[in-house]
Amino acid sequence: MKLDSKFLWGGSIAAHQLEGAYDVDGKGLNVMDTVTGGSYETPREITPVLQDNKYYPSHEGIDFYHRYKEDIAMFADMGFKALRISIDWSRIYPNGDDEKPNEQGLKFYESMIDELIKHKIEPIITLFHFELPIAIMKKYNSWLNRETINLYLRFVETVVTAYKGKVKYWVTFNEMNHLDPETDVSSLFTYMLAGVEYSKIKNKEQDLAVIGYNMTLASVKAVKLIHEIDANNQVGCVFGLTPSYPRTCKPEEVMKSFNDTIRDFYQIDAMTYGEFPKYKLHEYKKMGVNLEVSPEDQKAFKEGILDFIGLNYYMSQVSSVTTEEGDQESLFGGVVNPYLEKSAWGWTVDPLGLRYLLNFMYRKYQKPIIICENGLGAVDEVGEDGVVHDDYRIDYLNKHLTQLKNAVLEDGVECFGYLMWGPIDLVSATTGEMKKRYGFIYVDKHDDGSGDLSRTPKDSYYWYKNLIKENGDNL
Ligand code: BG6
Repeated sequence: MKLDSKFLWGGSIAAHQLEGAYDVDGKGLNVMDTVTGGSYETPREITPVLQDNKYYPSHEGIDFYHRYKEDIAMFADMGFKALRISIDWSRIYPNGDDEKPNEQGLKFYESMIDELIKHKIEPIITLFHFELPIAIMKKYNSWLNRETINLYLRFVETVVTAYKGKVKYWVTFNEMNHLDPETDVSSLFTYMLAGVEYSKIKNKEQDLAVIGYNMTLASVKAVKLIHEIDANNQVGCVFGLTPSYPRTCKPEEVMKSFNDTIRDFYQIDAMTYGEFPKYKLHEYKKMGVNLEVSPEDQKAFKEGILDFIGLNYYMSQVSSVTTEEGDQESLFGGVVNPYLEKSAWGWTVDPLGLRYLLNFMYRKYQKPIIICENGLGAVDEVGEDGVVHDDYRIDYLNKHLTQLKNAVLEDGVECFGYLMWGPIDLVSATTGEMKKRYGFIYVDKHDDGSGDLSRTPKDSYYWYKNLIKENGDNL
């Protein structure tokens, strides 16, 4: 048995992590333009007002804004069938509530989409990948305010109408599920995702519930709108998921692993089952969270069911009810699995976890799935021959894709594509580093801002090219 010949092989990138040109052609600031560079050891700083003495990696990115033609030509050379890009909201509505969209912003994305189509690469557009205009944060209090839903829908209507007939696949949000009051990265994610400063939230449970609800509602309303604009449109939402295995077979630990794995599934449930889940409202009631689901909202949940689910998978974690010596905390809570290898940033490498997750999601929702992100962030050294010999990345991808293939061909999971993160080196979201490289293409750009931005294929470039040519038969 073989993968479908239409399987969407490709990659995934996000505007704020590579475009640069942060103040060009009428663009406003987005929240990520105000987050400094950091590292594994030093967290990124959130400075809603830009400071002269700080370094903001999004401001130059890898200058994709001016080099996208060259970069897309390399993706085409690798044989990409699809590329997931995001549209930076702050390029289209620099002040969030402008009377008219910024034509230069619309033109930029149109040329990029045309370039993809020219190379027979299917554009998959993410409408929100952490690029909330800062003006919406300042004037409207971000996703805490229902008015932001209307501003978002206006942005969605503008771009979906503008690119009608050119773009078929739309993603309403990237990883809205990472709103969690209990992890080390809560502060960064609350700002990235929701444009809210975590330290300033007085009632975390209430406010995070409202943000999560408003974003979920915005997504279902966007699904309906996007279908209305063109009935051929296929709409998904992307979630970043981390399966959590029980440390032992103690029933309490098994129960905890269930709860940890599905702790942020209420949004997916709401977007696929046609109603905001009763169990979540029950949980909110117990917590003293006050949330109104109006009859109008109920209608929106019924009418905005997703066509597909996008999954970002990087690692698994372990659920435990006890603390043991040597335990290390995992990124989204839980502990690090001692049976697995880790990346230099402490992310466990668990290829079988991908097969597990694909099966879990497919059995639960029975919707087509596309892997929207998966990849290895590593320190790449340029060899004396000027090339990065990244056999470790090839090994990582090979193992994950073998499990994906097993999920599709052995288990019958309907997975229609694999978009590797990020096919060209770009700025890391969690640390703001260039040093954490994912790409098939090396970019000469470093964390001190130096580098000539030249692009060079790594060994993995040729490996992926061949894999696509063989449609995965050689896995
Ligand atoms: C996902 C995000 O959570 O993880 C991407 O959607 C991000 O934006 C990716 O880049 C990898 O994380 P990092 O921190 O290694 O860039």
